[in-house]
Amino acid sequence: MTPVLRSPRPLGARAGALLLTDWRGGSDAPAYEALADALRVLVIDGRIPVGVRLPAERGLADALGVSRTTVANAYARLRDDGFLVSLRGSGSVVHLPRDLVGRPDPEQLGGVVPGDLLDLRKAALHAAPEVAEAVERAVRHVPAALAGIGYDTVGDPGLRAAIAARYTERGLPTDPAQVVVTIGAQHAIALLARVLVRRGDAVLVESPTYPHAHEAFRAAGGRLVGVPVDAHAGWDETALETTLRRTAPAVAYVMPDLHNPTGAVMSAATRDRLLTVAASTGTVVVADETMGELRIDGPAAVPLAVADPAGERVVMIGSAAKVFWGGLRIGWVRAAPDLLQRLLLARPTGDLGTPVLDQLVVRELVPRTAAVLEARRTFLRAGRDDVVAALRARLPEWDVPSPAGGLTTWVGLGRPVSSALVLAARAEGVVLASGGVFGPDGGFERFLRVPYTGSAGDRERMVDVLERAWARVGGVGAGARGSLAAVV
Ligand SMILES: Cc1ncc(COP(=O)(O)O)c(C=O)c1O
Repeated sequence: MTPVLRSPRPLGARAGALLLTDWRGGSDAPAYEALADALRVLVIDGRIPVGVRLPAERGLADALGVSRTTVANAYARLRDDGFLVSLRGSGSVVHLPRDLVGRPDPEQLGGVVPGDLLDLRKAALHAAPEVAEAVERAVRHVPAALAGIGYDTVGDPGLRAAIAARYTERGLPTDPAQVVVTIGAQHAIALLARVLVRRGDAVLVESPTYPHAHEAFRAAGGRLVGVPVDAHAGWDETALETTLRRTAPAVAYVMPDLHNPTGAVMSAATRDRLLTVAASTGTVVVADETMGELRIDGPAAVPLAVADPAGERVVMIGSAAKVFWGGLRIGWVRAAPDLLQRLLLARPTGDLGTPVLDQLVVRELVPRTAAVLEARRTFLRAGRDDVVAALRARLPEWDVPSPAGGLTTWVGLGRPVSSALVLAARAEGVVLASGGVFGPDGGFERFLRVPYTGSAGDRERMVDVLERAWARVGGVGAGARGSLAAVV
């Protein structure tokens, strides 16, 4: 018997239908196959976790406006493929196919060829050369660090001073007492969510947004409200203002500089509007700059908190991951000391401190940020220009923005086929996150986030595979895709 959770978590019909926005994707395949494909992608992307009970057939049929037979046949197909098990009294429970369970590499999902994988779901760069040098320099400080007991929830004083100095250099005067070091920016987001959000509070997020942020706010009990961000037009300022006023969110989580995934940069007018309205609704604005310093063109980002240097209403998050290296699990929060105190009190249930040796390395790197960014800029400019030009030439029906920085371009496909495209590319060993991953409440099937972080060879392979995958899901003007069952 297949092992599943004892009492499966249910997915409601309405929540299921929201995740399934655009599930037909212009397909001319039978409806049950298109539905099975869409559900399969949601499982592979992790948007419907293993062990969750799918909605009852009738409920989902009503929510999607299809016949119960369509849903029943889709579930039957998923059962045949091993993505679903039916247990008496527990309904249809999401499962991973038997031949995929226990494999060491979850990327094997979807029939990817072992050993020949280009995983582009995480947009990140290889370590900057300065990291190895910083490790060597940091070794000198290890004996002093070892004299302590090593549990450090606040952060190395030298690192906090370096982070404060970097903010000051960027135009935001900062005292080290306004900085706490965390285990990456993700930890900072999760801590802030736990401290600032009470169950049922509204939390404003951008739509699309960085997925693990919306997961963290949801896990803290937040009720997410989305505000549209477009790669070309940026933030919908009217929606931003009305959503703030209507929902008075506890937190507005934003990426004003090089927004992930669109690469958009918030205009000065929108920043003003956001901060003015957020002040009137009692909303704490959390600005995530994990990508923010990776400018390719144009002026360097000015931290959003210049409008609130005390950090009472605007909290900044930073990270060593994208500028230096993702293997350094170091991030930070810049905020008023009172809020930092609350974060520190909340830490012990989740962690007992930030790794001391990683901090010593980042302490060496932060003062060298400008030089590291200079080299990153050259590398990213080449990657961006190359990928944007290749995609525009070979897939002219796509909308391929050329962002001012960051690591990815948010491509408009023109048709809601992102999941199908991702599955087709995966079959050739190129793994991308489908657009829907970035939607706080589904959607974005018309978009694909394409990183330009790879080597020239990897970029070429990615574009080749995308071109073939596009043809496979219907290509130019076909307005249709075939069944994906053979692809997975
Ligand atoms: C916008 C954003 N915030 C936070 C993170 C997490 O960063 P870290 O690796 O420092 O935890 C990422 C990682 O991709 C990100 O893109």
